[in-house]
Amino acid sequence: MKPIKVGLLGIGTVGGGTFRVLRRNQEEIARRAGRAIGIAMVADTDLDKARAAVGDFARVSADAWEVVGHPDIDIVVELIGGTGIARELVLKAIENGKQVVTANKALLATHGNEIFAAAQRRGVSVAFEAAVAGGVPIIKALREGLSGNRIEWIAGIINGTSNFILSEMRAKGKAFGDVLKEAQALGYAEADPTFDIEGIDAAHKLTILAAIGFGIPMQLSACYTEGIARLTREDIRYAEELGYRIKLLGVAKRTAQGFELRVHPTLIPAKRLIANVEGVMNAILVKGDAVGQTMYYGPGAGAEPTASAIVADLVDVTRMHTVDPRHRVPHLAFQPDLLSNLPILPMDEVETAYYLRLRVDDRPGVLADITRILADLAISIDAMVQKEPGEGEQQVDIVMLTHLTREKHIKAAIERIESLPVVRAKVTRIRLEALGAS
Ligand code: NDP
Ligand code: HSE
Repeated sequence: MKPIKVGLLGIGTVGGGTFRVLRRNQEEIARRAGRAIGIAMVADTDLDKARAAVGDFARVSADAWEVVGHPDIDIVVELIGGTGIARELVLKAIENGKQVVTANKALLATHGNEIFAAAQRRGVSVAFEAAVAGGVPIIKALREGLSGNRIEWIAGIINGTSNFILSEMRAKGKAFGDVLKEAQALGYAEADPTFDIEGIDAAHKLTILAAIGFGIPMQLSACYTEGIARLTREDIRYAEELGYRIKLLGVAKRTAQGFELRVHPTLIPAKRLIANVEGVMNAILVKGDAVGQTMYYGPGAGAEPTASAIVADLVDVTRMHTVDPRHRVPHLAFQPDLLSNLPILPMDEVETAYYLRLRVDDRPGVLADITRILADLAISIDAMVQKEPGEGEQQVDIVMLTHLTREKHIKAAIERIESLPVVRAKVTRIRLEALGAS
């Protein structure tokens, strides 16, 4: 059978990895796909870099539009990133009848509804396994492997850069900025690393997972997003002393009133498997009503782990090339005309437990004032530790863990606690998830 010809847009970290993996494993890949898959054209703004990466094995162009319009190209792989030119190129490729593979979660979380609708109309596929959790085949697992389940919740470490930073800070005491630079040098971070450390990249991925898990449209703007940039070493240490690890977690949960969609630093009991996921590794826990909890684990970023997912998509798309589009797996798992319109809940209505750290004057009665405020708002305390004051210090840290309460109640409590004259700094609040069997 005629080989499938791929046009690659962007040969940076992931594009370079994809080119190498596809060439190195070409025989096995052809045996799986039923025909050879080769990269015929590569577009990159840096022609020298592109030529150095592909040698004589593919035609190189500075013009990505040439690739998406070229009649010889069957599949366009978009690895430029961002939501600007990438969106235009992907939509043009679809209009031209090309199959598309992308690792661009920002693009899909922001413009996925438009892109999938265009692909559906044109009868082409847009595959995106690499967009969530790098090399971990979570899209396939959630969309196909778990399709007999009603998905109850998804909780995942889905940003490799943040997890790498938190791991290195906790285990080796390294400084935030130094580890971020390492993550950039290793090719883990986004072009703009604030996407990683402010939780935006994780919010993109969670938006995609929630769409597939629950059969809802992409709703990035409704995702509560808080990153790791303001976490302190003290909190990481105190959490550890209490038997917890802090991870940047994406949580999507079904409730009777609607869906929770949130990304934030989270205390997780250290005995849970997911709390021990370190470095650039990602892990996603999925709770289905039939199967119970399942966990998917592997490298969440980097050239070849991400290429592994891109090439898997290329094989899938090649196998489906001649299949009637109506018989393909729907992009977002559910039939596009049967999506749920249950709302995403406002963050104030979300129920979770909390870690609170308070800097207070070291004198009698302080604790009573604080616990009275919590009791007034029906917030019950699960554990509390008062740290010893440092040499000559008049102030101490009090660390508390609460039972489940609503976000709006903890916010009200914090406001009242911070207005007490004995409270000397802003209260630190980190959410806590037990991630137990329920
Ligand atoms: P890089 O920045 O390393 O690669 C992007 C490449 O695209 C660069 O070579 C860039 O060239 C080129 N480029 C920019 N604009 C154009 C254009 N108009 N036409 C052609 N080429 C262009 O990014 P990554 O490889 O890290 O990421 C690519 C995508 O994969 C992103 O969407 C990212 O979010 C996603 N992703 C990345 C992962 C990772 O581990 N790095 C993992 C999973 C997904 P120049 O450098 O000259 O600007
Ligand atoms: N910057 C992303 C991360 C790349 O660190 O997880 C993988 O999507």
